[in-house]
Amino acid sequence: MSSEIPEARLLAQIHPERLPKHVAIIMDGNGRWARKRRLPRIAGHRAGMNAVRRVIEACAELRIPYLTLYAFSVENWKRPRREVELLMQLLKEYLKKGVADLDRHNIRLGVIGRIAELPASVRQGLRAAVTKTQSNTGLRLTLALNYGGRAELVDAFRSLMTEHASAAGAAPSLDEEAIRRHLYTSDLPDPDLLIRTSGEMRLSNFLLWQVAYAEIWVTETLWPDFGKKDLLEALLDYQKRERRYGGLG
Ligand code: FPP
Repeated sequence: MSSEIPEARLLAQIHPERLPKHVAIIMDGNGRWARKRRLPRIAGHRAGMNAVRRVIEACAELRIPYLTLYAFSVENWKRPRREVELLMQLLKEYLKKGVADLDRHNIRLGVIGRIAELPASVRQGLRAAVTKTQSNTGLRLTLALNYGGRAELVDAFRSLMTEHASAAGAAPSLDEEAIRRHLYTSDLPDPDLLIRTSGEMRLSNFLLWQVAYAEIWVTETLWPDFGKKDLLEALLDYQKRERRYGGLG
């Protein structure tokens, strides 16, 4: 849960030069938030959408360059059809109404995942929002949609194999950089800070390659209750960590 320390005091402790470049978030707990209020699960997702807006705005204000949000996983199709449909509806609504806000905050939108498998109307909304914000130079917001870390690695290896097949005669060379170049995130730095809400200690197939050295911060706060104060707490905790990348620091 959020601490009792006022937001302004937390903000005053932030060292801008020690902020993470890339924050990635596993947004969890929408269903539990709704259940606690005897509301349908979709009410939790709708409240979660407001948390999405708050956190994007806070990251833009703090001048964090990259934010990646896990919005729909390859496993989420297993949910009841009605919930999946409503989640897609919510996403379309967010893209339609939110794009002007993103643009106004100079935010550039990107997407990662098996986008071709999403409904055509969602793809269309994504295309429009990505195109509209493509020249923006502020926060780079990435939505992970129909995303799975293992699926991403499979897609990267497939793409590598295709590349090698078309490079006649050349012996295939495989190193970390070659794999990195074929990931959906090839134009993003690895996350420095991975946040997960609702207390679960799991990666849930999110950015498996990229979080190799990310600092992990888990909060009991359910995603719809997550706000700028929670983000500041995560950032302050991150600032205290010593990152050694396997070395001695
Ligand atoms: C996990 O909570 C959340 C999701 C699977 C969907 C995330 C969607 C949103 C935050 C709203 C829309 C997002 C955008 C980008 C417009 P859960 O349903 O697994 O919660 P539970 O574990 O408590 O059941």
